[in-house]
Order: sequence, then structure tokens, then C-alpha cells
Amino acid sequence: MSMQAAPVIEARRLSRTFAGPIPVHALREVDLTVQSGAFVTVVGPSGSGKSTLLQLLGLLDTPTSGSYRLGGRETAQLTEGARCGLRATAIGFVFQSFHLLDGRTARQNVELALLYRGVGARSAAERARGALERVGLGDRADQRVRTMSGGERQRVAIARAVVGGPHVVLCDEPTGSLDSTNSGLVMDLLVDLNRDGTTIIVITHDEAVASLGSQRLAIIDGVLR
Ligand SMILES: Nc1ncnc2c1ncn2[C@@H]1O[C@H](COP(=O)(O)OP(=O)(O)OP(=O)(O)O)[C@@H](O)[C@H]1O
Ligand SMILES: [Mg+2]
Repeated sequence: MSMQAAPVIEARRLSRTFAGPIPVHALREVDLTVQSGAFVTVVGPSGSGKSTLLQLLGLLDTPTSGSYRLGGRETAQLTEGARCGLRATAIGFVFQSFHLLDGRTARQNVELALLYRGVGARSAAERARGALERVGLGDRADQRVRTMSGGERQRVAIARAVVGGPHVVLCDEPTGSLDSTNSGLVMDLLVDLNRDGTTIIVITHDEAVASLGSQRLAIIDGVLR
């Protein structure tokens, strides 16, 4: 997938309504253009649509209406298989609650992201070790995630997000469960990744994180501005 010509992300009038007795208009006609290499931060109150937006951008959910182009490619008509393939190769995710397999080691968690994509076991192990070194956990590769601190877990999650070389890393409150020291470590890693050309989109309540953004956005009641 070439990311040079078009913006890496181009959403037009993207809406997401959750059906129910009272439908919830979680996102209302969002327009968003993100150039390759940007560092985007999104702030907004609870329930304003931040996670919904990230789920759409990450191809974890589909819009009710509107268009979403990722790497120049319209995603609306993709089959579920094609969406999964594109998600696995183009996007990395980091969540507030880490979403790791606690009974597995750090290396196993990172490797899995590659094994799902058909990377061979030896190459996956090598690349996982490299990604863990990058986040300062080279010496913890064989430690079970269950026994790691929150800050260490989030660094494992970042290693997992980036091991496949995604164009975009989407983060939903990545420092939300961390103290200020560990938040700082995570922020440094995101800044590093961005310097190396990875496009970063971060949802945050944390003013220190928001201030890192080269493109700072706010969302209120599903309206992005
Ligand atoms: N699967 C769903 N079904 C029904 N309503 C949903 C669903 N997901 C989200 N919503 C609703 O959509 C609105 C936006 O939710 P969203 O999770 O995007 O908010 P948020 O900005 O991430 O909030 P927070 O800061 O608390 O995480 C909320 O009113 C929420 O209740
Ligand atoms: Mg949320």
C-alpha cells in the first residue's frame, strides 16, 4: 500500500449511530484529514465519541454513513477479510487497559501480532525481541505479562502495536492507567515512533499528551473540530 500520494486518513461526513429505543448519534458527519507523519491528539468529554471514532479509523467498526479512505483506499466496500488484512498490516492499537494476554510472556504477546499475519516463527521471535528492545524491555522478553507493572505492560502493548511496521498507530487513552513517570515513558516512545515516520493518533484526557500533537482536535457530542 502506497502512502505517499494521498493523506493516510481521509474521512468525509463520517457518522455512527447506535440503534436503540433512543438512537445514539455517537459521531456526526466527521471530516478528518491526516497526513502521513502527523501526530494527532483528540480530546473531549466522556461519551463524546472518541472511542467510536478510533474504532472506525481502526476498521474495528463500520460507519452508518460517510466515506473513510485509509492509505488512499475507500474502506466502505471492503469484505470482512480484506478489512482484517488491511487492519493487521496498516494499523497498530494501544489501549488504556493494555489488552494483553496476561498468562503469556511479553515476547509471546508481541509475536502473536506477526504470527496472525503468517510471519514465520523464527522471524517473528527475532522481530518481537527487537520491538521489546525498542521499548526498553529487551531483558524482560520472557517475563509473564501478569507479573509486570502497568507501565511495563503498556510498553509491551506499544511493542506489539509497532512490531509489524504499521503506517498508523491508534491510541485510546494510552496513559490513562499510568502514573506520571510511566506516562512520560509512554509519551517518549510515541514521540520516537512519530519521528521515525509513524502517523500517531492519540485520544487523551491528559493535557501533557495533548500538547504533543501537531494536529490537535476536540470532539464534543460527536462533532469533531
Ligand atoms: N456499542 C454501542 N452501543 C450503543 N451505544 C454505544 C456503543 N458504543 C458507544 N455508544 C455510545 O456512543 C457514545 C460515544 O461513546 P464513546 O465510547 O465513543 O465515548 P468516549 O468519548 O470514548 O467516552 P470515554 O471518554 O468515557 O471513553 C456514548 O453515548 C456511548 O454510550
Ligand atoms: Mg472512550
